[in-house]
Amino acid sequence: MKAAGKPWLDSALPTAERVRLLMNEMTTTEKVAQMVQISYSIVSPETADDWARRGAGSFLHVLGDNARRLQLLATQNRLGIPVIFGIDAIHGHAIHNGATVFPTQLALASSWDPSLAEKMGRVTAREVAAEGLHWTFSPVFCLGRDLRWGRVDETFGEDPYLSGRMGAGIIRGYQGDDLTSPESIIACAKHYIAYGESTGGRDSYDAPVSMRSLRSTFLPPFAEAVRAGCLTFMAGYNPVDGVPCSASIKILRTILKEELGFDGFVVTDWSNVGSLHARQKMAGNLEEASRLALEAGNDMIMTTPEFYDATVSLLAGGKVNPALVDEAVTRILSAKFRVGLFDVTAKVKTLSIDADPSARASEAVFNCAAHQEANLGAARKSIVLLKNETVAGIPALPLEPAGKRRKIKTIAVIGPNADSVRAQFGDWTFFTHPTPHLDAVPTFRVTTMVDGIRAEAEKRGIKVVFDKGCDIFDPAVHSIPAASRLASKADIVFVAVGDTLVQTGETHDRANLALSGAQNDLVLSLAKVCAKKGIPLVSILVNGKPLEFTTVAGASDAVLETFNSGTLGGQAAAEIIFGTVNPQGRLPISFPRMTGQLPVYYNQIPGWHEGRYFDCESTPLFAFGEGLSYTSFRYDGVSLSAETARAGDTVMVNVTVTNTGEREGTETVQVYAADRIASVVTPVRELKAFRQATIGAGQTVTVSIPLEVDSLSLVTQDEKRVLESGEFEIQAGHDSRPESLVTRILTVL
Ligand code: NOJ
Repeated sequence: MKAAGKPWLDSALPTAERVRLLMNEMTTTEKVAQMVQISYSIVSPETADDWARRGAGSFLHVLGDNARRLQLLATQNRLGIPVIFGIDAIHGHAIHNGATVFPTQLALASSWDPSLAEKMGRVTAREVAAEGLHWTFSPVFCLGRDLRWGRVDETFGEDPYLSGRMGAGIIRGYQGDDLTSPESIIACAKHYIAYGESTGGRDSYDAPVSMRSLRSTFLPPFAEAVRAGCLTFMAGYNPVDGVPCSASIKILRTILKEELGFDGFVVTDWSNVGSLHARQKMAGNLEEASRLALEAGNDMIMTTPEFYDATVSLLAGGKVNPALVDEAVTRILSAKFRVGLFDVTAKVKTLSIDADPSARASEAVFNCAAHQEANLGAARKSIVLLKNETVAGIPALPLEPAGKRRKIKTIAVIGPNADSVRAQFGDWTFFTHPTPHLDAVPTFRVTTMVDGIRAEAEKRGIKVVFDKGCDIFDPAVHSIPAASRLASKADIVFVAVGDTLVQTGETHDRANLALSGAQNDLVLSLAKVCAKKGIPLVSILVNGKPLEFTTVAGASDAVLETFNSGTLGGQAAAEIIFGTVNPQGRLPISFPRMTGQLPVYYNQIPGWHEGRYFDCESTPLFAFGEGLSYTSFRYDGVSLSAETARAGDTVMVNVTVTNTGEREGTETVQVYAADRIASVVTPVRELKAFRQATIGAGQTVTVSIPLEVDSLSLVTQDEKRVLESGEFEIQAGHDSRPESLVTRILTVL
């Protein structure tokens, strides 16, 4: 495409040349405006329009015709540079009431299936792009290690390797093979870096993390994002050891841009620049804050519009190097060219939805049949069976196949989360963002836990009775006696407990992870009824993140963890309950016995005393990697393709597994490593590889898993990543617990 006087529109030219030609034409103010990102949710429409006319680089949190209007204004100005629209499509384009709501990242991570993450990313991209938006602030590569933190639900759990694999999958899905495709959107790796380590789990507080542990633990998933071609990064709110991410030259320029070679652009998190002055007190005024942010290497400034005037004045006064602005604008414009904003008309929607005949058709992708199918597939694989005891000689789950199982005429479904769309959806849906619509009603069908069980039960002529049992907050508000009476008339009882919307998410941190309201009392009362009748009590956990489920797990015969499972979570859970689907989820995060036991992540650096509390067992309630199936697997042997190896080598870990049960099942074989003697104290074990195998009943297979020897490296006291020679324990098995693992020794020469 060419246009008179706009040579950068020549798509035959290399991107760098197009950027150079465009920048040659730009005034200083036009350049600075490209660095500004305005939130539509906090300014008036008139102010937003004004920013579009001035050439603001980006808007966030704007949907539908409002976005189209802003795009029209932007493309009508002197240079006509299209706006890039960002949105928090965190588990699906869930902010748009009507679009697909997927399981949250934490739920999805339980699938241990990066290809599933890729599929979810693709569906989300299609729905976001259909609306004329280009960019999602996802995925989250923070680690969920302090469970008090409200945003654990947004993470892929506690492990850097699993997070990196899942996140790279979702980035591939968002960005596709071709960034210019009208169905591709830009991913954003966030929140860079160590945000999940905020002191006390309190959102945005200092992460007291050394540069060595930053490099060894928190950087690897972000490095995976760069390798996956992630086009943008978001700088976290938090300081790392007292230096805010958005003020750290080392974190943004040295590590990300220079060492990792990141060639996209960095957006700040919400008001990071304003906060350098107003809250973090590193700058005496906004000019000073803007200078710090520019020098550190932030390229786009989210919601500190004052950055514009401040930077224009800094440049006029010669107080900041103009090359810094040029570098940032080059990165932003390169991204705009790379995604085809100047070339692909379908990506720049400027007509109102009613005036654009293609718009209705493209919006028909929202929650369409194919996307619902993908969503259901994700929910099925995201559910984890954590306990399944035998009651009266029969396993509590599944309820079928009939004949071999107990006779069921009536099912009781009890609990505050059995019929709660909000609890099931979790954070980052139209209920909470961009402006809360807590009273909103989904404009599409949602299958809650009781809906799902009822639908499956009806097909089989089984009666379902329901009682909410208790309020999730107020312990005095409950119907425990009535719910218990209902349970006493049933043949099996399901109780759905956990947390709800306001107990999880950004700024919703918790000091106490005990179940709120009368939930424990409800479960204990139902357990009494069930024990007396000799019928199973099955807990369905509907929760953003691990909580204290010690009482619930102890009182239940079976436990099914569903996290925030999205629109079709109830259907997926019911299919598992009735046995048409065999559960295969594995925990991406460890569960504590009690809050004071935190942190309980598996890959800790050991002390040299026993490391247990006087008043709590040392193991977690449920460990990283755990998860049951309706069949059973036996590990028959583990061998390595070599006993010695060097840097750059790949060693095959061969694991022989037999399905000893009566039905096909999928096992996730996990490979951990522990360094026997090292120059620093290393974690007890760390996940290095995994592979899933679907194994038929009675079959034996050998699963061969490549182990990159370089992944055994560590970060030295002077911050260098090196592979030290010596012996490593290579441990393979079902989960991270030592008793589940078989060890072989690999010597690195
Ligand atoms: C703040 C959150 O920390 C971040 O995750 C989100 O993407 C931005 N706001 C934009 O909504």
